[in-house]
Amino acid sequence: MRLDEAHSIADLERAARRRLPRFVYDFIAGGAGQERTLSANRAAFERRSLVPRVLGGASPTPAVDLLGKTARLPLAIAPIGLAGLFHPDGEIGLARAAARAGIPFCLSTNSVASIEEVSRAVPDGRLWFQLYPLRDREMMTGLLLRAADAGAEALVLTADLAAQGRRLRDLRNGFAVPPRLGARVLLDLAAHPGWSIAALRGPRIGFGNLARTREEGAISIARHVATVFDAEFSWDDAARLREAWPGRFAIKGILHPEDALRAVSIGADAVMVSNHGGRQLDMAIAAIDAVPPIAASVGPATTLMMDGGVRHGSEVLVAQSLGARACLVGRAVIWGLAAAGQAGAERALGILGEEIANGLALLGTTGDTDGQQMLELRDD
Ligand SMILES: Cc1cc2nc3c(=O)[nH]c(=O)nc-3n(C[C@H](O)[C@H](O)[C@H](O)COP(=O)(O)O)c2cc1C
Repeated sequence: MRLDEAHSIADLERAARRRLPRFVYDFIAGGAGQERTLSANRAAFERRSLVPRVLGGASPTPAVDLLGKTARLPLAIAPIGLAGLFHPDGEIGLARAAARAGIPFCLSTNSVASIEEVSRAVPDGRLWFQLYPLRDREMMTGLLLRAADAGAEALVLTADLAAQGRRLRDLRNGFAVPPRLGARVLLDLAAHPGWSIAALRGPRIGFGNLARTREEGAISIARHVATVFDAEFSWDDAARLREAWPGRFAIKGILHPEDALRAVSIGADAVMVSNHGGRQLDMAIAAIDAVPPIAASVGPATTLMMDGGVRHGSEVLVAQSLGARACLVGRAVIWGLAAAGQAGAERALGILGEEIANGLALLGTTGDTDGQQMLELRDD
């Protein structure tokens, strides 16, 4: 498929699915347990509709302030582990695509490219760094210093990974880093030569930020989480982290209004409502359903972002109508990257941007105010 023939995120997902070996596709697409939360994230958007206004006499702009600077779209790229496995352009390709679209890119602790590599390769981009609580506090402090040195504007603490969700697709596929080359994987690779040849030429697949954790041989993600991450990290630890970090601070993975208030009370500038794209607690509430009570609890002074299930620009408008400032996008951009590298990620952001602009124009404004967008929602 030529990229200019992709007109929706679903088109890019189809192209990515054709190019990727099954075990990689499943790692991206899958959720935890019975994948109820994964499906609920989409279903909760499908239940909602927007009520447009007409003849408002103004044309609204999609730009928003995100943690101190204007983002051209109400989006940021969500932290995604192992993006370098999906396409050799990896995290650097994502960071470049974000910079071109005028939005922030959040690098995962579990990235293939290190924070220094991304910052050097994309000096003009807005870089956020996502941190998982690490058992090895010295290593965690080291990562903080490295992120600050690399010019990360914001630290995003992901709080919903006390253990890794049971991802059955990965268990069945024996997913490991680097991939274990058993007979099934070899057949899978042979059936997807485009990906396999690119992967041979691309960067070594490992956790670029965590060089000291590199083991002999392959490790499953669940084992990586159990050995490297700290399941007992507390609000007090989070408060200390906030004090140690000089820049903006966000907590990601919040679904309960009281946790959102707690985040604000320890000095978080942003709350990121998320169920990790349905990959952690199966049966967790759909992410978009958690937005209204959290928006009501934290009030407008806190930057509220959400992710989970966003595949269309109009869904970003729904999130905004419910009180979010912007959305993080995970799989929507990953399908573009996996289909065609940086150019595919750019296409994904281009599609979302066009959908947002088109949706905003058609949604209209009441035209009676200070330029504030007024959105309404029918929840049926
Ligand atoms: C393949 C994959 C890897 C992910 N890795 C991380 C990660 O390293 N850190 C993190 O905070 N969230 C991670 N997430 C969760 C995303 O940041 C985000 O919350 C989720 O993808 C949003 O849902 P969506 O994919 O439906 O947009 C990952 C998600 C996927 C799909």
